[in-house]
Formats: sequence, C-alpha cells, structure tokens
Amino acid sequence: MVKQNDSWGSRTGLILAMAGNAVGLGNFLRFPVQAVQNGGGTFIIPYLVCFVVMGIPLLFTEWSIGRFGGKRGNHSTPYILDSMSKSVWWKYIGVFGIFTNIAVVAYYTYIESWTFLYVIHTVIGTFTQMSQAEVSSFFVQYVNLNGSNFGIPYLPVLVYILVLGINIYILSTGLGGIEKVAKIGMPLLILFGAVLAYKGWTMGAENASAAFPEANAWDGINFLWTPQFNSLLDPKVWLAAAGQIFFTLSVGMGSIQCYASYLKENEDIALNSLTSGFTNEFVEIVLGSAIVIPIAAGFLGLDWVIENAGFGMAFQTMPYLFMQWGEVFGAIAGICWFGLLFFAGITSSLAMGTPWMGFMQDEFGWGKAKGAVSFGILAFVMGLPTILFYQYGYFDEYDYWAGTVSLVVFALLEMILFTWVFGMDKGWSELNRGADIRIPEVFKWIMKYITPLLLLLVLTSALITPQGNDWVGAVSGLFDGVGWKLDSGSLISKLTHDDLKLLQLNDPQNGEIYEKKIFFSTLARVQLLALFLFIVSLVWYSGIKRKSISHE
Ligand code: TRP
Ligand code: TRP
Repeated sequence: MVKQNDSWGSRTGLILAMAGNAVGLGNFLRFPVQAVQNGGGTFIIPYLVCFVVMGIPLLFTEWSIGRFGGKRGNHSTPYILDSMSKSVWWKYIGVFGIFTNIAVVAYYTYIESWTFLYVIHTVIGTFTQMSQAEVSSFFVQYVNLNGSNFGIPYLPVLVYILVLGINIYILSTGLGGIEKVAKIGMPLLILFGAVLAYKGWTMGAENASAAFPEANAWDGINFLWTPQFNSLLDPKVWLAAAGQIFFTLSVGMGSIQCYASYLKENEDIALNSLTSGFTNEFVEIVLGSAIVIPIAAGFLGLDWVIENAGFGMAFQTMPYLFMQWGEVFGAIAGICWFGLLFFAGITSSLAMGTPWMGFMQDEFGWGKAKGAVSFGILAFVMGLPTILFYQYGYFDEYDYWAGTVSLVVFALLEMILFTWVFGMDKGWSELNRGADIRIPEVFKWIMKYITPLLLLLVLTSALITPQGNDWVGAVSGLFDGVGWKLDSGSLISKLTHDDLKLLQLNDPQNGEIYEKKIFFSTLARVQLLALFLFIVSLVWYSGIKRKSISHE
C-alpha cells in the first residue's frame, strides 16, 4: 500500500478548507428556501435544536473517526469505518461516503456552472435591458436547453465541463491547492456576502413599487426571525430542519471524515470542528438569511417570496432586482451575488472529490492527477443526464436520494458505529485527545443516546409520513381499521412513484409529462444504484488485494 504523507499546511488553512467544505450553495440557496417553505419563524427553532443535538455531535464524530482512520493510513470511509470494528461489513457501509460525494457533485457542479456563467452575464450587461419576465425566462430557457445562448447549442453542457475542469485541475494539485482556494475564496465570499447583507438590512420599504406597494425588506427578516411555536410538533418541519443541518454542515457525506484523515495525530478536533461548524452557521444564519429573502421582499413583498421560494429567486429574479439599483451598483451586486455563490460552491465541490481520490490512492496507488481525472469522468457520466433531463426531474431525483436520504442513513449508521460498536468511552477520549477546549460531559450522553434516537426518528417519520402529516389522526386510524394512509411526500410514496401518480391524477391534461417524469426518475435511480454497486465492487476487490498483500 502506498503510504500517504499529505497533510494540512496550517491550522488556518485547515479551518478555512473545512469551513469551505461546509459553506456552500446550501447556505445561500437551500436554507432560505427551506426556511420560507416551512413557515419562517416556525422553522428556526427546530433548526437550531437540530444543530445542537445532531449537527455538533456528528461533527465531533466525523472529525474523530476521520483522524483515527487517517492515522492508520485510511482516507475514505470504507476503510476508516473498517478500522473501527472487527466486522467485515462496515467497509460496505462506508461506500456511502464515496457514493454521496460523486452523486452530489454531479448536479452540484451544474448549479456551480450557472453561477459562473451568471457572473459573466452580469459583467457584460446581459440583464440590463430585460424585463422581469425576460430575466426569468432567460434562466428557464437555459436549463431547458433551448435558449439562444450566444447562439451556442448545448452551452449548459460546455459551461458544466469547463467548471468541472477547474475543479479537476485544483484537485490534481492536492490539499495545498484546496487550501489556497479556501484562503482566497472564503474571505471574498464573506466580503461579498456582507455587502449584500448590508443592503438587505438597510433596504426597508424604499423600493416598493406601484405593483407591490406593501413591499418591505423587514417583513422578510421578521418573517424568518419571529419564533413560532405552533409547528414544534410537526414532523415535516423537523425533517426539513434536520435535512438542512445535514446538508449545510456536510455531515453524513464522508467528506469531513476524509478531510480529517489528513490531520496530524494530536491535532485538535474539538475546537477546530466547532470553529468550522460555527463559521458555517454564521454564514448561513447571518448572511444566508439576509440576502435573497429581504431583498426580494423589499421589492416584491413577502407574499410573493412565500409563493415563489425556490431556485427561481436566485437566478430568475435577483438579476432583475439588482438592476433596479442602477447600472453600476446593480452590476456590483450581481457580481457579489454570483461570485459569492461560485466560491461557496467550488470550495464544497472540491471537498466532494477528495474521498474518491483518497480511496483510489490508498487502495490502488493512484496519484493525484489520475485520481482527479477519474473523479471528473465519473462526475461527468453521472452529471450529463441531470443536465439533459433537468426538466424531467433527474436533478431532483439525485438531490432527494443522494443529497438527502442517504445522508441520514449514513449518519445514523456511523453514529451507531462510533458510540456503540467502537464505544463511547473510547470515542470520547479520541475526541478529546489534543483538544484545546473541554467539551461539556453532557455531550457524551447526547451522542450516545439522543443523536442516534433522533436520527432514527427522522428516518422513520420520513419513511411513513401519514397523509397530510396528521400523525394523531393516522394512529387513531390504525385502531379504527382505516389502516395507515401514506402522504405523497413520504419516502415510500416517492419510492413507488405514488407522489407523481397522484399529481398525474389531479392534472390529467398533462398526463404525458408525468409519464416522462416517472420514466426518467426510474432511470436516475438505476444510474445511482449502478454507481453505488460500482463502488461496492471496488471495495470488495480492494479487500481481496489487501488480504493477498498481508499474506505475502
Ligand atoms: N455543505 C455544502 C453546502 O452547504 C454541500 C456539501 C459539501 C456536500 N460537501 C458535501 C454535499 C459532500 C454532499 C457531499 O452546500
Ligand atoms: N431544490 C431546491 C430549490 O428548488 C433547493 C436545493 C435543493 C438546493 N438542493 C440543493 C440548492 C442543493 C442548492 C444546493 O430551490
């Protein structure tokens, strides 16, 4: 086996790279959308609770097992998990930690490529003379692959390849390159974010128009930050909150374990993990909530925002709104916004490349160039259909299974491994070795009981969400002999496509489009499954190789 001596250059570099991994498109695009869709102030309490009882324990766990595995020469989850137990099965569980990254990077880089192109469009003034409807349809045309983008057919694919190429190039320079990008990208991102957030906070009602006389940026801020207690018993909100915490902190994915495996033996975990976790929360809560929602509310009113929450706000609406600030500041705002998204995206997509590269290096002796290029090819093969069939939900299918469900599954399993199989006492001393702070003992208890229990709860409630999210009604229905009626948003209904079939039933004119969606959703699942099995086979093969080496 090739011994790997790569490690982080400095503590600042490490923290910025880890924070860059966490701070991503999720902070600026996903968080506001999730918050709005789940009632604003009703979302915030579950969100913060999930940060403390799931996010922080998972950060502790992933940093600990990463450093532990790295010390034994393992830099990706299959053999990191393997080194923590005697059973031969954990290395297959570890497949998730490579799989998720490749599946997510495939569509994530696509969003990244939009942000890249939108910086250019802002600079050359594409949006200056457009109406709101034109800016919006510009984006729709683009993702539906039928726009006249500089007259270049398949421009989205070309830009995607370009951005993927930038990622591959940086990855091929190793941890040093990743650190450099984080050191430049993170401060710029915070600067750009601060400019926009300042604008968001100070906007008030000055931009209300005849069409939206009620518009006021503060309505957006108040909507988010006025806590509401009525949703505390709604599992859907909890699930969304937990999902967001996972996605934004990059836990349950395998990329933190991989980064942490390059730590030195006694390098601090406790303080470093908290620092990068809190940096992410600062960016998400302070900057992430101060841009799209208040600015859109300031121009178009809160009702509009609530109705239109989604990617649309970031790409279909913001460029138009920025222009209302005049040509010069409008362009500055646009560059800040899409530039910030680009840096947020690239520091995360780089992290997604490292587990695969670490695995191929550890097991097959592949160098950085080979590792980075092969990663790029895999990402492209996975990503191309998400571009070509975007409008049929290919992208969403990846985001649901790889970007949401598998994070929770993997997090639950690794938590069990760390606290029950490896053992919480051993785990606790691993976590605290070399630490510059003392973690309150109560976390030992939280990590062992509360976190796994909550993860289990989140998973089962997603699996069998009853119709209309009415748990009380559903349980009493069981006793009344009505049986359990699943909600179309439940995991099982998605699995059986009952969700799409229901939509089709309610919208018979568009029956054909749902047929197509069901077809492409199935195809996307087959492709995801193929990727998973491909990695399983590599792990299996590496196991044979390892055995024959140890018998020599
Ligand atoms: N945390 C990132 C965000 O907020 C996303 C991310 C980073 C990710 N690393 C990952 C997703 C690894 C999946 C796998 O946008
Ligand atoms: N799909 C969501 C939307 O419609 C947001 C979202 C999901 C997202 N996954 C993401 C945003 C990953 C960024 C990155 O807006």
